[in-house]
This record gives sequence, structure tokens and C-alpha cells, in this order.
Amino acid sequence: MASPSARALAAELVGAVLQQGRSLTAALAAARAGRPEARQLAAAQDLAYGVLRHYGRLRFYLDRLLERPLADAGLTGYLLVGLYQLERGDAAAYAVVNETVAAATRRFPKARGLVNAVLRSFQRRQAELAAAAEQDPVARWNFPAWWIARVQADWPDHWQAILASAAQHPPMTLRVNRRRVSLADYLSRLAAEGLDAQQTGPWALTLARPVPVATLPGFAEGWVSVQDLGAQAAAGLLDCADGMRVLDACAAPGGKTGHLLEAHDLDLVALDSDPERLARVRENLDRLGLSARLLAADAGNPASWWDGRPFDRILLDAPCSASGVVRRHPDGKWLKRVADVESLTKEQDRLLEALWPCLGAGGKLLYATCSVFRQENEARVQAFLGRHPDARRDALTLPGAHDGQWLPDPQHDGFFYARLVKA
Ligand SMILES: C[S@@+](CC[C@H](N)C(=O)[O-])C[C@H]1O[C@@H](n2cnc3c(N)ncnc32)[C@H](O)[C@@H]1O
Repeated sequence: MASPSARALAAELVGAVLQQGRSLTAALAAARAGRPEARQLAAAQDLAYGVLRHYGRLRFYLDRLLERPLADAGLTGYLLVGLYQLERGDAAAYAVVNETVAAATRRFPKARGLVNAVLRSFQRRQAELAAAAEQDPVARWNFPAWWIARVQADWPDHWQAILASAAQHPPMTLRVNRRRVSLADYLSRLAAEGLDAQQTGPWALTLARPVPVATLPGFAEGWVSVQDLGAQAAAGLLDCADGMRVLDACAAPGGKTGHLLEAHDLDLVALDSDPERLARVRENLDRLGLSARLLAADAGNPASWWDGRPFDRILLDAPCSASGVVRRHPDGKWLKRVADVESLTKEQDRLLEALWPCLGAGGKLLYATCSVFRQENEARVQAFLGRHPDARRDALTLPGAHDGQWLPDPQHDGFFYARLVKA
């Protein structure tokens, strides 16, 4: 059972996302700055992720349990954490109620009666409310209505599986740095540490259970990185060969940059418009013992960074809605708006247009997103092909994919890939 302080921390994290519109990653970073005990932070993080995964349903309950809007919106996080634990936790209900009341009252001294009444009322009405929630799409699927409608329209045969996958815990997959260690040797190292894993791709080992990164043998020495199997497809699909001049146009934090350099000796330029995120690319490459030329610049404005020498390969891992990775970032479901997808779409077109002239004749550009929305994927590629007679689309070998789209499933996240070849 989470300690009262873990529960309070979780409630504040949930509040930071839902009330202040901050990402859970940013809220967690701020929480870490307060130096909470590691176990307390881990428990709070678990609770906050759980609440955000199931927020549609929990909000449905809360709206029916509150007689009037909350006087202090800050209480919302406490109530959601309590409801989440009552419905999905394994602690005794009386303890959840008592601890939630205690944690909320420490922060909001007048809230005792209200929190107590809401949670006890939920206990009484749980079966009735759960049945009603099944009839409400937002509560049933734990996605905003616009998102559900979009996935239904885009994937008429798969929408339920796509939405349901967001409730699953994601797999933890490692990419073995084959410059340092073979997959077979690393599997033995894992086994020696009591960690069960199996090979799931040419570079990939998927752990039976997630573990803290620091416990992975040889992590600090660059033997492995944590990278989803879907993301690991990029390096192969870019189809590089030793000696090529390659641009990784949206590189940070450098997951794919590292993979490209592990696989081949390349003259690689890694670009990102966010200097802080670009620093993470440097850290990752240093750890892996690899190097690239790093530039903090707008990929959409080559005049500011390009020396005019054409690239053989370009990876455009474009900024996107991240709708394929919501099980890892459940806050994204509630923070993103339709207007965000519209502006991302414009940005994806702008980056594609700007980078195409940087590609040499016969060169290949791999367009990638971690989205499942057709508007960011197939529609962008079709529009681009319509504007550029010198571009053709290559067939990709991506088992189980739908025209370059990998939908999220137990093995990998949702990713889209399209390879454009220049005449
Ligand atoms: C999907 S992430 C890239 C993930 C990365 N390729 C990896 O595998 O670790 C998109 C990145 O694009 C960067 N970005 C957004 N707009 C950009 C622009 N106009 N020019 C360059 N980078 C940009 C963001 O800062 C972000 O780091």
C-alpha cells in the first residue's frame, strides 16, 4: 500500500498534468528536485501513471459523485488517486479511504468531510457506476471523444485493439550495442543477474519484466540502450552502408542516432532544434562510445546549417502527436488537442519540404512518426508524393505492418515508416 506521502505526491503529479497542463515527465522532474525518497517516488509514479491511464473512467465517476464543482481544483488529484485505488488497487478499501482523507486534509484542511463522503459514496455505488461507465465511450476507452472518433475513422477494423492497448503495461526492450557485445553474450549476462529475456529482433532483447535501467549489466559502459522494438526498425529501414553521409534531422534524445552508428561507420550529422534535448544525444553517444556532428538548428531551415553537400540518407523522425506511444505517456491523451495535430501536420510538411533538397540523387529519406493517426502518416506521404514527381515510395519489409504502419501491440509501440527515394 502506498505511503500517505506517496499518495500526496501522486495527487500533486496528477494535478500538475490535469490542472496545469504540464507533461508527466516534466512534473516528475520537478518532483525529483524535491529529493523524495526513491521508494516513495516510485510508488507515486506508479499511481500517477495508473490514474492517467484510467482518467476517462475515474473522471466519469467523480462527476457523478460530486454534488457541486470542487471549490479547490487541487483536490481533484487526491480524489482521483483514491478512486483509482478503490477500483484497481489491492489495498483494503477502509485503509485507502482513511489514508486518502489524511493526505488530502494535510494539504486542504477543510476537505476531510468531502473526501470521505465521495470515497464512501463510491464504495456504495461502485457496481452501478461501473455499469454506467461501460456505456460511455470516454469512460469505457479512457480516451477523449475526438481521439476515439479519429482512431475509429482511421482504423475501422483495428480501433478497439488500438485503444485497448493503451491500458497495457508496455514491454521493456533493449537494443544491444553489437560493437561491444553479442546478443547471446548479453543474454547470458542478464541470466546471470536473474533477468529473464528473449530475442525479439536483430538487435533486440525484450525483458520478461521491466527493471530499473541502472540494474542492467553494462548499461553505463554502453553495452545496451532501452529502445522499443518499433523504434529499432528505423536503422534497418534507412538502408545505410558504411561511409555514407547521413542526416538525422530530429535526433534528440538520440535513440535512433546511436543505433545508426552502432550498425555502420557513418559520417553522421545529428540535428535537433532543442539544445537541451541535443545535450542528451551527446550523453547517449558518449556512453555508447560513438560520435557524430551535433547541431542545434531548425531542420526546416537548411540555409542556417547545411553546407550544401548532399546527404545519401536522411532520417526524419518528425515531431508528432505520439498517439502510438500513449501507454508509455498516458498524459498525452489528455494534454493533446485537435489543434495540436493540425499544427504538427503543418510542421511535418514543412520539414519534409525543406529536407528533400538536401538529399542527393538516388538517396533515401525515411519519414517516421510514433503516431497512429493517418493525417500525420499516410496523408503526409501521399501529399508529398503529389507535390514531388522526383520522389517514389519504396516497399518496406515490416512484418505485420499496414502500409508502413505498425499498430501498438504487446511486442512494440505504434510507429509509421515511409521510405522516399529520390530519382
Ligand atoms: C520524435 S522526437 C525524435 C526522437 C529521436 N529521433 C530518437 O530516436 O531518440 C522529435 C524531435 O524533433 C525535434 N524537433 C522538433 N522540431 C524540430 C525542428 N524544426 N528541427 C529540428 N528538430 C526538431 C524535437 O526537439 C524532438 O527532439
